[in-house]
Amino acid sequence: MIKGIFPVDKFNKIETPFYWYDMDLLRETLGIISNECRNKPFHVHYAVKANANPQILKEIAAYGFGADCVSGNEILRALECGFTPDKIVFAGVGKTDREIRIGLDNDIFCFNVESKPELDVLNALASGRGKKVRVALRINPNVDAHTHKYITTGLNENKFGINEQDLPEILQMIRTSSHIELIGIHFHIGSQITDLSSFEDLCVKAAALQEWFNSQGVALPVINVGGGLGINYQHPNHCPVADFEAYFRLFEKYLKLQENQTLHFELGRSMVAPCGSLITRVLYVKEGMQKKFLIVDAGMTDLIRPALYQAFHHIENISSEGDYMPYDVVGPICESSDVFGEERMLNEAVRGDLIALRSAGAYGETMVSQYNCREKPASYFSDSL
Ligand code: LLP
Repeated sequence: MIKGIFPVDKFNKIETPFYWYDMDLLRETLGIISNECRNKPFHVHYAVKANANPQILKEIAAYGFGADCVSGNEILRALECGFTPDKIVFAGVGKTDREIRIGLDNDIFCFNVESKPELDVLNALASGRGKKVRVALRINPNVDAHTHKYITTGLNENKFGINEQDLPEILQMIRTSSHIELIGIHFHIGSQITDLSSFEDLCVKAAALQEWFNSQGVALPVINVGGGLGINYQHPNHCPVADFEAYFRLFEKYLKLQENQTLHFELGRSMVAPCGSLITRVLYVKEGMQKKFLIVDAGMTDLIRPALYQAFHHIENISSEGDYMPYDVVGPICESSDVFGEERMLNEAVRGDLIALRSAGAYGETMVSQYNCREKPASYFSDSL
């Protein structure tokens, strides 16, 4: 039986929980992004933190995208999976010396620098290697992304990035740092942004900052606007691909590039979230006083987004065609936040039914933990199952 997009018969032979990736949807998404960027000075660096599964990374690298990494190990993983160093950017507020050396030794495209002390360390380590390192300054544009507070990053009071008032001093530092080459400015205002007007605000801010740099005699070949494009978690079947056309058109319209300037994006979620589902099995149907609980074998250790950000993932019973009824879908972990969804309308369920938690391709597998000594979920791909 195939219910919707899922090969349920095959799933029945596999131990749960596991991640399942629809590779056709991934390819369709990557194709759309490639087309949108064709013949434009646009470069997409996939944010590896969203999903670092080697199969997924190899597919993305094969389309010629770059990688946005936030750790030395992400850089190594990206390189192993076919991303070329000249398309790798490296961000993060707390880069260790080891991680900086990984970036330096592999001659990556650019370090996104987040503070004055980082700039000092970078200059010293590059000097030790006899190299000049390309950097973009990550600046807080003070733009509200209107998203969950844990994934808003562009406001002034944030651990991320450099505040505008520090820029004159930082520019002075760069002028005297012989191993630093300033190539651009970088922003990231937050994640799961569905109100595109936040990106318009960012464009206005980026243009103003660029003007300031120009007035100081500094040209910036690179403008990097980060990631953040949101997806529709409510309707994964109706809207399986984010509106990339509107997204890229917005930047074309509101951010006028100078000659020889390139615009860089660090998209994560919108590239991979829709293609992944977490598949889990009903262990028990427990009748509460007023509620029915579906206790499933996946927990917050396998998908932490609902527990951590009150995130919504569409939930389906893919084994049943029974009447719809409300269930609270909960995991087995000893934490009361281990809840995937409350009062969800699902086809009537019995022990053994398979449940799909949709749109889990981003920040799902990468955020797995082994709390309670649990096993990590396996991953399967539509191509090879
Ligand atoms: N660039 C930078 C500097 C970032 O910090 C991030 C994400 C991205 C790009 C990619 O953003 P995206 O296109 O995926 O929105 N774990 C959270 C999301 C954390 C995002 C962290 N930064 C979640 O599950 O919603």
